[in-house]
Amino acid sequence: SLLDKATRIARDFDYPAENVQRGVAEYIKQSNEGLAKEGTTLSQIPTFVDAVPNGTEKGLYLAVDLGGTNFRVCSVLLHGDTTFSLTQSKILIPREMMASGTSKDLFLFLARQIESFLRIHHNDHFQAHLHRRREGSTEEDLFDLGFTFSFPVRQCGINRGTLIRWTKGFNIPDAVGHDVCALLQTAIDDLNLPVRVAALVNDTVGTLMARSYTSPGETGTFIGAIFGTGTNGAYVEKTKNITKLKDIKDVHFEDTTGEMIINAEWGSFDNQMSVLPTTVFDDELDADSNNPGVQMFEKRVSGMFLGEILRRALLSLHKDPEFGLFKADKNSNVVLPEKSMLFRQWGLDTSLLSSVEADSSKDLAEVKTALKDHLGIECPSLEECQAVKILVHAIGKRAARLSAVPLAAILVHTNKLASDDIIDVGVDGSLVEFYPNFEGHMREALREIPEVGVAGDKKIRIGISKDGSGVGAALIALIASKEQGITA
Ligand code: BG6
Ligand code: GLC
Repeated sequence: SLLDKATRIARDFDYPAENVQRGVAEYIKQSNEGLAKEGTTLSQIPTFVDAVPNGTEKGLYLAVDLGGTNFRVCSVLLHGDTTFSLTQSKILIPREMMASGTSKDLFLFLARQIESFLRIHHNDHFQAHLHRRREGSTEEDLFDLGFTFSFPVRQCGINRGTLIRWTKGFNIPDAVGHDVCALLQTAIDDLNLPVRVAALVNDTVGTLMARSYTSPGETGTFIGAIFGTGTNGAYVEKTKNITKLKDIKDVHFEDTTGEMIINAEWGSFDNQMSVLPTTVFDDELDADSNNPGVQMFEKRVSGMFLGEILRRALLSLHKDPEFGLFKADKNSNVVLPEKSMLFRQWGLDTSLLSSVEADSSKDLAEVKTALKDHLGIECPSLEECQAVKILVHAIGKRAARLSAVPLAAILVHTNKLASDDIIDVGVDGSLVEFYPNFEGHMREALREIPEVGVAGDKKIRIGISKDGSGVGAALIALIASKEQGITA
């Protein structure tokens, strides 16, 4: 029957405990390679951020955030008592700007959004600045801006770094190899805006910093992780373990704390596929993507890809001559609307999976609505809805269990579990926020890892740091401006 067939497909997504454990061992190996040299699968990028905040930081900063579902511009007022006020505008990046066009178009677009944000929310400051410029005054009164740029960047200082490669569907080749802070600053200067790009920040680092500011414990936050459009994590490493630092040229960093935040870029864990699970749908997704062979972990875990894995699984059932999922009348071959997203690459987004997973009713009414909204399917049968649910559950559960691998590996590798202290982990992203029981499945896998176990799992405190990276970018801009002797 259709359900048996769906169950058989679902089984291919099983990710049992022994594979989780092998994953952890391999992750530790690849992370050590990444700390020792450049060009490995796990990039382990030094961020030159050497301390986490304690909640007393103060000042007004701008932040822009590129790389999640939305592009945002925000201003953050840090009150210095673990609280902040955030003003922000969210803009959906036009798809054609992400995957065609030039870096100049993209960065000018970003600068224009900063300009309109300043005109709306900080017009007095903006006008005063313009006035001073007209008078010929050289007196600077600039906003310091933290640039959250959530792609792999080879950093050589707190506000400089070159793009290694695009991920998550972005593809603007002429930006690769260029300093993205300089590109943004040039676009800002072209528009004469009173803004200095003070810090370059990955969203995982921003999330870690923001979480540490808002909930400072004895030791601060240890890991920041994103489970959203993409997936990645950042953690606090001992500087002496980052042996490749000595090979990085043009480094602007003074080691004062003995620690540095590392951006793991774990989306590219095991690109060589030595331990990652795979199915025919994963393989086809990768082959048809614009970056085959990279981000192999991310392609099994994060929001941008789960919808596409599901779409391919549903399509295979739809095309199956025996079962013909969503063929209202099996004899007539009259099927889905021709333009259904089922036929469009990247046509399904993760919110479909979240809605399906959330429906535990008998008649699966929510699943029906979701199938109508996302795929244009009218009146699917109960059996069809059940088949969809079986697949969704399998794909989501594998993603959540895979997510335990890097978390556990980082805790084992840093020996963090040896002490009795709580280990604080800040997370953000649409998957961990909206996919039902994502954390529950992840924790179940964590407990199956002998070095973590039930006792280790209890020490791990995971908290959402919603919209954290804007606040995190502000915090890093603050640190950067202090280091450069600029006061806010
Ligand atoms: C947002 C952060 O809250 O979450 C971004 O501000 C981050 O920096 C994003 O990239 C990740 O989630 P998603 O689901 O939007 O990719
Ligand atoms: C991708 C990016 C990474 C980012 C993550 C989450 O993996 O390469 O830099 O942190 O997505 O947004």
